[in-house]
Amino acid sequence: MKINAPLLNTIAKKFGTPTYVYDLDRIKHQYRLFCEAFPWPTLKIFYAMKANYNISVLTTIKNLGAGIDAVSPGDLYMALSCGFDPSKIIYTANNMKDTEMEEVAATGVLLNIDSLSRLEKYANAYPNTKVCLRFNPGVVDGEHDKIKTGGDLTKFGILLEDVNKVKAITGKYGLKVVGIHEHTGSGLIKPDSILNAMEQIFSIATRENFPDLAFLDFGGGFKVAYGPDEVPVDYKLMGAQVVERFSNFCSSYGKELELRFEPGKYLTAQAGQLLVEVNTVKHNRNRTICGTDSGFPQLIRPMFYDAHHTIKNISNPEGKPSVYDICGNICETGDLFAKDRFLPEIRENDILSIQDAGAYCYAMGGTYNLRPMPAEVVVENSKAFLSRKRLTPRQLIDLICRESTDINRL
Ligand SMILES: Cc1ncc(COP(=O)(O)O)c(C=O)c1O
Repeated sequence: MKINAPLLNTIAKKFGTPTYVYDLDRIKHQYRLFCEAFPWPTLKIFYAMKANYNISVLTTIKNLGAGIDAVSPGDLYMALSCGFDPSKIIYTANNMKDTEMEEVAATGVLLNIDSLSRLEKYANAYPNTKVCLRFNPGVVDGEHDKIKTGGDLTKFGILLEDVNKVKAITGKYGLKVVGIHEHTGSGLIKPDSILNAMEQIFSIATRENFPDLAFLDFGGGFKVAYGPDEVPVDYKLMGAQVVERFSNFCSSYGKELELRFEPGKYLTAQAGQLLVEVNTVKHNRNRTICGTDSGFPQLIRPMFYDAHHTIKNISNPEGKPSVYDICGNICETGDLFAKDRFLPEIRENDILSIQDAGAYCYAMGGTYNLRPMPAEVVVENSKAFLSRKRLTPRQLIDLICRESTDINRL
């Protein structure tokens, strides 16, 4: 099922580097695995498109029947452009401003409100409408401090203890709370986090508090193994426990609710890789430093989260192994994809594949140092297609100049 090295080398030759490659068949496989792991009759997946908003990826996920978790007007318009029905989109922005709320409400998409202050403003502007509420489950987990979203020290969600304040607002304005949402963090590492978060939500999602519920949404955070030593999570076991508890909850609530999740990483992380070319090999005393034609603005996870990404030398896989530091081309010392990696001999012009780069990689990218973002190629049924082209530096600058109002001074 993996994209083979000859095809990757052909892609690098044909489309140049740096280039992201997404395996659409792997995304479909992950989606099926997820559905099998959580066998609830009305399971609904709302893909967290912040992980990867490539058009071909979104279209694939739409065709599988998923909805979308959107977090900005840009996300929302992208999802609508890809043909997602507004009824299959949930809008979960953090620290939303009034104009944003109005823009989203005009599309008919359900808003997921995550503060008392925004709830009051929403209720005032749209009384007697449907709404979803994001609570903070008070459970702290995630594979890095920067992506732990639960716990009262983070900026996300309404505290569970404020449920009566919520009810006062929803009651006063006749709001119909159709969903309760939580998201604990990304890359949940403690096996019980999701169950603990569910219990917290169950404690407030009573008929007495919220009689109109249609769904509970337990966010994303499903960890994938990035490093060779990481043990993959047993999602079948987790799914069975989740479904059992949800079933008990629905019995006590007196209605079979939809069970919603918003996986991002789980669907796309392992389906992506970034192909880069080595242009400089430098022997600095006891270190061998390989410089490539990409950099941290194009794949920031190692620098931002100390994340591990496996790297393969796909053009010299049989070379004699040695230890290398793999760097980018950006003017920052921290511009490093990996340190002390034991890899087949790396020569100038070799092509390296940075693996598991399908989530929070291109999507978190930017053009620092004014280097255009990589191209994006998708592979389906062993055939490769260019999904998004790489701008030339000249095209990037033309774009910036066109958008600049002070162009006359150039
Ligand atoms: C509200 C919400 N839902 C879903 C996700 C997706 O998380 P993951 O990609 O870890 O599944 C995130 C990511 O931060 C999020 O903030």
